[in-house]
Amino acid sequence: MRLSGKIAIITGSATGLQGSVMGFGGAAAWRFLREGAKVIVTDIDLNSGRETVAQMKAAGFEAEFMYHDVTSASDWERVVTDTISLYGAPDVLVNNAGNSARFGVEETTEEAWHQQLDVHAKSVFLGSKEVVPSMREKGGGSIVNISSIYGLVGSPTVTAYHAGKGASRILTKSIAVQYAKDNIRVNSVHPGYAVTPLTNSFFAESNQRDWLIDRIPLGRIGSAFDIVPAVVFLASDESSFITGSEVVVDGGVVAR
Ligand SMILES: NC(=O)c1ccc[n+]([C@@H]2O[C@H](COP(=O)([O-])OP(=O)(O)OC[C@H]3O[C@@H](n4cnc5c(N)ncnc54)[C@H](O)[C@@H]3O)[C@@H](O)[C@H]2O)c1
Repeated sequence: MRLSGKIAIITGSATGLQGSVMGFGGAAAWRFLREGAKVIVTDIDLNSGRETVAQMKAAGFEAEFMYHDVTSASDWERVVTDTISLYGAPDVLVNNAGNSARFGVEETTEEAWHQQLDVHAKSVFLGSKEVVPSMREKGGGSIVNISSIYGLVGSPTVTAYHAGKGASRILTKSIAVQYAKDNIRVNSVHPGYAVTPLTNSFFAESNQRDWLIDRIPLGRIGSAFDIVPAVVFLASDESSFITGSEVVVDGGVVAR
């Protein structure tokens, strides 16, 4: 019970349906519950969010679904206010929601640029702004930002995604330095290639799969269950002296 008594908001966590390929958010939500936390599952996917939480409640856990577009300031305000009324001030915020835009520089529209920066970077800003006051009042908290190895190194495509994940990485350090005095820790996780609802069909193509596996020193594509332990560690008090840090979970890709 490494998260016993903690209240956590996990964005983009409607991907927790039992029997389906889970996303990082959904798998993290289940693991947080098993470690003793109460979890607010948030997402723009109403159906999967409600169904995921129904499964969690049926398993005897305390979880609630809230509709939440992480690019909307008013949604953040509502989600944090409702979390406080329901369970109390959050101890943990996991900024996980995201999607991808597979375009090079010349194909990237301004719209795609703004969408990617909003979902991966503005969300971290808005979420931190909203949870910091109640975390400060409570005596501390942990914010975990799910960036990517694509926030550390370049690739031939996903231009705006790289920009958003790079921004998430450095925002993490900026917010960590600002709020260390309030015992609010902020860290980023940088997953490598992992099979989730986002990547499932793409990684299933054998050419794509072989190309990727060739680049992964540990010789396999990961899953949400490879990523989640790092999130649990950063959310828990075991990491109480770690802030502004980045944890790479990628089978060795960026070590080359
Ligand atoms: N899968 C990978 O290989 C990989 C690698 C590195 C980083 N990541 C990052 O990890 C995070 C989770 O990825 P995943 O693979 O589990 O993806 P996923 O698509 O399985 O889950 C992402 C969830 O975010 C939700 N979402 C999208 N836009 C949203 C918005 N505006 N507001 C709220 N929710 C929104 C989706 O509905 C979905 O449920 C993302 O930030 C992704 O960029 C994934």
